Amino acid sequence: MNESLSESFDGTRFPGHLEIIKLERCDSTNNYIKSSMDRWVDTGRLPVMVTSGLQTCGRGREQRHWESPPGMGLYTSFGFTWQLNQSPHLLPLAAGLSVIETVERISGIRPGLKWPNDVLVNGKKLAGILIENVIAESRLFCITGIGINVNQESADDFPPEIRIRAISIKMAARDGKGEDFQLEPVNRVLAHVFMGWLDKLKQGKTKEIIGITREASAFLINREITFHQPADNRLVRGIFKGINDDGALILETGNGSNTIYYSGEII
Ligand code: BTN
Repeated sequence: MNESLSESFDGTRFPGHLEIIKLERCDSTNNYIKSSMDRWVDTGRLPVMVTSGLQTCGRGREQRHWESPPGMGLYTSFGFTWQLNQSPHLLPLAAGLSVIETVERISGIRPGLKWPNDVLVNGKKLAGILIENVIAESRLFCITGIGINVNQESADDFPPEIRIRAISIKMAARDGKGEDFQLEPVNRVLAHVFMGWLDKLKQGKTKEIIGITREASAFLINREITFHQPADNRLVRGIFKGINDDGALILETGNGSNTIYYSGEII
C-alpha cells in the first residue's frame, strides 16, 4: 500500500513529499530501497519511506542480524538523494535524534544516544540505525534504516545473545504490561520527525544538531568505554569526553591526550 505525506505536525509543508510504502514482509527494508533506487530516481519518487510488518533478513551494523518478528518492532527505511557538495557526516546523529524524539512523543520517555546512533534506555538498546550510501550517476543516495524495539514484554522476547542488553518501548514505559503500542502511529511520528531533522541537516543547522546530540549523550561523559575502530578492526579503551563541533567522538586515551574518531562504535 502506498500513501504520501507532505505536511509536518505544525502544518508546514515539507520541501517535497514523502511517499510511504507499506509492505507486509520483505527481506530487509534497506535492501528493498537499494534494489528499487535506480527506478525511483528515474521516476522522481524520492524521498521514500518503506516500512514492513516483518523482515526475513533484517540487517544490523557490522554484518549483524536484526531480528524482526511481526508486531514487536518497527522496521522502516528512508531513501533520499543527497547533494554531493553536502557532507552526510551528521546524518547518523540526526537519524538518532529522530528516533529519540519519536520515542519521547509516543511514550513520554526520553532515551539517551550512544554515539553515533544507538538509542538507549537504562543502558539497554532500544533502537538501532543502519545507514548505507550509494553513489550512482554522480549522485549520492542515502538509505537510513531504523529498527525500534516496540512491544517486547520482557528480555525473553529477544534472542538469547542480546537479551541482557535490549529493551523495548513497552518494557521501558509500561513495565512490559498492558496494551501493545500501535505501530502505525509510531511510524507516522517517525516519518514527520525524520523529515524535519533531514530538512535541518540540509539547511546546515549543524549547531542545533550537535547541541542536542551533546545533551542526549551527556550520560556517557567521563565514563570509561571500549571503542571499536572498523578501519583496522581494533578495540580502544578510553574515557568518553563528548562530541566535537564536527559531530565526531572525543576519546581520552592513556596519557590524558584526546583522540578524535569519525566512525566506529562504542561497545
Ligand atoms: C544496528 O545494528 O544497530 C542497526 C540495526 C538497523 C535495523 C533496521 S530495521 C529496518 C532496516 N532494515 C534492515 O535490514 N536494517 C534496518
